[in-house]
Amino acid sequence: MKLIVAPDYAGICEKAADIFAAEIHRNPACVLGLATGSTPVGLYQALIRRYQEGALDFSKVQTFNLDEYCGLAGDHPQSYRYFMQKNLFDHVNIPLEHTYIPSGIADDPEQECRRYDALIESCGGIDIQLLGIGHNGHIGFNEPDDHFPVGSHLTRLAESTIQANSRFFASESEVPTHAITMGAGSILKAKKILLMASGEGKAEILCRSMTGPVTPFVPASVLQLHRDVVILADEAAASLIRKQIQPSDE
Ligand code: PGA
Repeated sequence: MKLIVAPDYAGICEKAADIFAAEIHRNPACVLGLATGSTPVGLYQALIRRYQEGALDFSKVQTFNLDEYCGLAGDHPQSYRYFMQKNLFDHVNIPLEHTYIPSGIADDPEQECRRYDALIESCGGIDIQLLGIGHNGHIGFNEPDDHFPVGSHLTRLAESTIQANSRFFASESEVPTHAITMGAGSILKAKKILLMASGEGKAEILCRSMTGPVTPFVPASVLQLHRDVVILADEAAASLIRKQIQPSDE
């Protein structure tokens, strides 16, 4: 595991954009695993800026998002499909048909999960998976539980996640209670994993996930089992973990 510390949020976004840009230059047809939430927004802005400057070409890139709320169609303003269109896809030259997100309105969510896993396989797997981290240690919507789910699955959101995400909805009761998410196993299959964390509020869970025991009750702890994980944290989020893991000079 490599820890890269930047002074602030803008710094981690630029470093994450450097890593994504290097991958796209190395392999223009790479497969990127993408995430939603507040943390990746600055990375997406940096990628859009680099595209507008002519430094990035997304025409052959394919993307798979981690998760989608159940019950929200892609044109719902709080769906993750809508989020990705507004925050990235509408602003770069990625073909719509190269962007994959589970359907939140599939009649049979279990079948949708199997379809999604098969699609990831058929594209050759994910080259870089981007992750944020929830205050309870969730990655994607893999919430604390007594086991690590392997593949994509239907999950019930933790109460703390519903409360945290209610900031994007008119009221807490409007937050969907279920989601489809890639499993911990799907995430571990990615060739490289990039986890971004910003702010003091993430310091404790980041440290616990990366230096504590590997347990499904702290889902991000499973990342300790992957051989190519880069943690990109700003000074505030890194304040505890850097006492235990030496930051890289990069
Ligand atoms: P955030 O969410 O980026 O909005 O903090 C992270 C997460 O819940 O995975």
